[in-house]
Amino acid sequence: MSTTLSKAALTDLITAAIRAMSNSYSPYSKFKVGAALLAKSGKIYGGTNIENASSGLTNCAERTALFSAVVAGEREFKALVVVFDDKSFGPLSTPCGACRQVLAEFCAPDMPIYTVGVTAGKANHIMQKRLKDYIPFPFTMEIKPKKAPKK
Ligand code: THU
Repeated sequence: MSTTLSKAALTDLITAAIRAMSNSYSPYSKFKVGAALLAKSGKIYGGTNIENASSGLTNCAERTALFSAVVAGEREFKALVVVFDDKSFGPLSTPCGACRQVLAEFCAPDMPIYTVGVTAGKANHIMQKRLKDYIPFPFTMEIKPKKAPKK
């Protein structure tokens, strides 16, 4: 499913990602990150980075959003927005390698990913790429079930 979002849909996702970022738990790095994932159902799932005193256990914003969506029964996705605070990150911040691989488990290679630099709570600059730009050869298996189990 290859999509390019309308301006209104992108604005909604950015708003959701900025809202999620406001709940960032990042006392160690002080870097706040927010994510908003648009599922095929039309629902938006927010995520933020959740750090841990044992730093390797930190969960990035992107994975938090994806995992929340999977818990809700989503399996297919249309777009991801990631917002980074321009004060903390450079203008070219992108999803980390672990998140790229985890996104590749559920998201189509063509899915658009918008990385957004935020200054004073407002989107400052936006870069659009596709998942396959970030991870051209993900590790995948052919046994992935597409549907969530029925409740
Ligand atoms: N972080 C994310 O949430 N997403 C990324 O794509 C890159 C990094 C978080 C993890 C950690 O809490 C902080 O940013 C600094 O690395």
